[in-house]
Amino acid sequence: MVKICCIGAGYVGGPTMAVIAVKCPAIEVVVVDISKPRIDAWNSDTLPIYEPGLDEVVKACRGKNLFFSTDVEKHVAEADIIFVSVNTPTKTRGLGAGKAADLTYWESAARMIADVSKSDKIVVEKSTVPVKTAEAIEKILTHNSKGINYQILSNPEFLAEGTAIDDLFKPDRVLIGGRETPEGRKAVQALKEVYANWVPEENIITTNLWSAELSKLAANAFLAQRISSVNAMSALCEATGANVSEVSYAIGKDSRIGPKFLNASVGFGGSCFQKDILNLVYICECNGLPEVANYWKQVIKINDYQKSRFVNRVVSSMFNTVSGKKVAVLGFAFKKDTGDTRETPAIDVCKGLLGDKAQVSIYDPQVTEDQIQRDLAMNKFDWDHPMHLQPTSPSSVKQELDYQKIFNNMQKPAFVFDGRNVVNADKLREIGFIVYSIGKPLDAWLKDMPAIA
Ligand code: NAI
Repeated sequence: MVKICCIGAGYVGGPTMAVIAVKCPAIEVVVVDISKPRIDAWNSDTLPIYEPGLDEVVKACRGKNLFFSTDVEKHVAEADIIFVSVNTPTKTRGLGAGKAADLTYWESAARMIADVSKSDKIVVEKSTVPVKTAEAIEKILTHNSKGINYQILSNPEFLAEGTAIDDLFKPDRVLIGGRETPEGRKAVQALKEVYANWVPEENIITTNLWSAELSKLAANAFLAQRISSVNAMSALCEATGANVSEVSYAIGKDSRIGPKFLNASVGFGGSCFQKDILNLVYICECNGLPEVANYWKQVIKINDYQKSRFVNRVVSSMFNTVSGKKVAVLGFAFKKDTGDTRETPAIDVCKGLLGDKAQVSIYDPQVTEDQIQRDLAMNKFDWDHPMHLQPTSPSSVKQELDYQKIFNNMQKPAFVFDGRNVVNADKLREIGFIVYSIGKPLDAWLKDMPAIA
């Protein structure tokens, strides 16, 4: 029986390994983590993360060929294939602070693998890492190898939170990069055989190590760039009276462009896009390519601009101040069907409103009040205003909102600012609301109160 061990039981490690276990009954999969609360949660009825379909997959194989454990060293020592799926956040201090990936967790995982291994291992980079990380990891492992043979593979993960299980069941592609040596090719083949249990062979791409590492950063940069492109258009639409949904539809019909990822919004969030682009920017700078670095930096600048444009629109619409005004924020995670709040645009929007002394009530069915408080207390910007945060209790917002009732209870004029273009704006206008939809023709009120971006 092939034994797989995955280091890191997070948003990627947990779902990815659960799907490997369910699709490969002949493989034993153990997911290990240094965080006991995380492992306890994976072993309980309430999993540590929310993903549609995840519960069913975990329950189908947990205790059979899927295990979660804090005994990291034991399971690493026993494994044939080790996935490393630890977090790789942006460095906050030292060389490359604010841009480069922090590989502390990765390095300590690699050193631990070198310490405890007694048999040959295939070590798979699942985390998103800078190009050439495999080389560094290889050095750590081989310099401490005690005669053990290590093959490093890059197998970046392309799942999207909120649809992780579907994405893992039917991936557009699986990418495996390895050394172009006989041993390297053998290791690539071994991993390919795992995925071949459910992924058609033509969807399994094999490349050299560096192409695989760079493809992950490139994919996220391209995806984020589409969002920033359409968001940049949304500002121009508002200025001219064009409708961004119509523009998106019209350009998306071009088969060279395609319809996906063309929705205007308050901006992208999540733990990956910004981090991976900053990482790409840093790599370009380190390789003497400042023009390329500046090109990708602009994707993040537009995203920040879009968030501040939204806050400015809210404030300017209400006579240039929201001080003391009650604002209900619906949704806090970075997108639907997830409880993940890392880099969610809601943090910047709420902080912007709190900075102008609004009274903010926040509700998200997947996010606890504690988490929201922690996110808003983070020191990204130094707010010199006290916070007036009043989280609602989860039961106080129903699935279906009665907008007429809400309108009746609000001070007039009553506003709805839609950061995702999901409400039926015309219906709300009939009730009497002033509605702002990103990139859509502006209500007369909003035209008279131009946002100072
Ligand atoms: P996460 O923060 O949810 O999980 C990482 C886990 O690793 C944590 O539970 C942490 O306790 C554990 N860990 C750290 N060092 C460890 C060590 N030495 N030994 C054992 N456990 C250790 O992170 P997430 O979101 O799962 O991301 C992991 C990697 O996958 C990152 O590089 C990320 O960029 C990448 N990725 C994330 C995607 C996402 O949608 N979240 C999608 C594709 C890639």
